[in-house]
Amino acid sequence: MISGPPRGMRDFYPEDVRLRNWLFGLWREVSESFGFQEYDGPVVESEELYIRKSGEEIVGQLYNFEDKGGRRLALRPEMTPTLARMIIARGSSLPKPIKWFSIPQCFRYERMSKGRRREHYQWNLDIVGAEEPTAEAEVIAAAIEFLKRVGLTRDDVVVLLSNRRLLSALLKSKGLPQEKFPDVCLVIDKKGKVSDADLHAMLVDIGLSEAMIANLFDVLRIESLDDAERVLKTAGAPLAPLDETRKVLECLSHFGLAQFCRFDISIVRGLLYYTGPVFEFFDADRKFRAICGGGRYDNLLESYGGERVSAVGLGFGDVVVTEVLADKGLLPDFSSGLDYAVIPFSEEQRKVATEIAQSLRSQGRTVTMSLETKKLRKSLSDADRAGAAKVIIVAPDELAAAKVVLRDMKSGEERAIPIADLCAP
Ligand code: HAM
Repeated sequence: MISGPPRGMRDFYPEDVRLRNWLFGLWREVSESFGFQEYDGPVVESEELYIRKSGEEIVGQLYNFEDKGGRRLALRPEMTPTLARMIIARGSSLPKPIKWFSIPQCFRYERMSKGRRREHYQWNLDIVGAEEPTAEAEVIAAAIEFLKRVGLTRDDVVVLLSNRRLLSALLKSKGLPQEKFPDVCLVIDKKGKVSDADLHAMLVDIGLSEAMIANLFDVLRIESLDDAERVLKTAGAPLAPLDETRKVLECLSHFGLAQFCRFDISIVRGLLYYTGPVFEFFDADRKFRAICGGGRYDNLLESYGGERVSAVGLGFGDVVVTEVLADKGLLPDFSSGLDYAVIPFSEEQRKVATEIAQSLRSQGRTVTMSLETKKLRKSLSDADRAGAAKVIIVAPDELAAAKVVLRDMKSGEERAIPIADLCAP
C-alpha cells in the first residue's frame, strides 16, 4: 500500500497550503515593496547548469536523470543558475541593476534532518549589476523586513556576516596556497555542523599541513573586524576586503538594522560561486539551521559564458522559518474559515438555497452549500467543521414569508431575516 510521498517530499494538506500562501504572500509583498520584480523558470533544467566544482555538496545532491531524448536533466536544487541563464539570454537588453525575486520549489537529495527536506520552497532575492555594498544591504534589509512582519525581532534573529575576500586575504597572510581556498571554504562551511576533530580530519584530507591547520584555526578565532585589521596590517596585506565588509555594515546601519548584524569570520557558505561578502541568518538561540543565506557572486554569469557582471542575492527557505515561528508561537491560526454555509431543509428548497448561495458568492462572500439534505443537526455540524461563521437555513415556513433563518455559529443565536437583505438586487 502506498501511504505517503517519497521520502523527504511533502504533501500539502489544505491547512498547509493556507500557511504556504500566507508565507508566499508576505514574501511577495516585501519583495515588491523593495522594488523587486517576480520571475520564474523551469523546475527541470539541464544537468550541466549545476555541474561546477566537485566537492560542492549540492552537486552530489542532484535529482538527475535522462529524458526520453537522451538529454541529461536535473530538478533544480537552487534558483541562482536559472537566474544567471535567463539574464544571459536577454543579454544587455535588461536595464541594470536588475532586481528580481522568485519563489521556486527546489529539490536536493539531502540527508534528512531537522530543517532539511528533499523538497523546499526558497524565496530568492537577487540584484544583478550593482557593484556597491548597498546591494548586500538592500537584500538583507528586505529579508529582515519580512522577519519583522511575521513578528520576529532582533532578540530572535541574528545576521552573521563575513567576506570571502577577507577570509582569503587572512589565510593568504598565514601562508595558505590560493588554490586550496575553495576546498577550505567547503570545509569551514561545516564548522558548527561537525565536531572540530572532524573538521581537522577534513582539512588533513584536502592536503593542509598541521602548521597550516593551526594557522587556520587561529584565523577562525578572529572575533572582530578590528582584530582582522590587525592581522592584515601585520602581514602588510591590502585592506580593501575589510573596507568592503565595513561598508555593508554601514549601509545596514542606514536602514537602522546594524543591531541585527554581527561579523562572524566562520560564515563562508557552502556554494563556491560566492566571491565577496557572505551572510547567514540564524535564530538567536541557534536551535535551528540557517534561516537564510546569500552573498555576492561576481563570476557566475561569466562562468556560463555571459559578461562579467556583479551580483548579490539570497535564498530563504520555507522550512526553517516555519519551524522557528512555530517554536515562538508566532504562526497565525490557519484553520479554515467561510462566511456562510447554506442548508436547504429539503430538496424542495434547493433551488432557492442555490440562488441565495450564488448571490452571496457574487458579492464576494465565501459560501459552501450542503450537497445533499440530511438531518438538520448533521448539516449544522458539517457547517461547523467547514468553519462557517454563519449558517443560512432555507426552510418551508420562513420561505413562505420570503425569509430564511440566519444562525450565528459562535453564539448559536438564530433569527429569521428577509431573503432580500442577503441577496444583491
Ligand atoms: P543555500 O544556502 O543552499 O543557498 O539555500 C538557501 C536557503 O534555502 C537555506 O538557508 C535554507 O533556508 C533553504 N534550504 C536549502 N536547502 C534546503 C533543504 N534541503 N530543506 C529546507 N530548506 C533548505 C542557495 O541556494 C543560493 N542559491 C541562495 C542565493 C540566491 N544566493 C544568491 N542568490
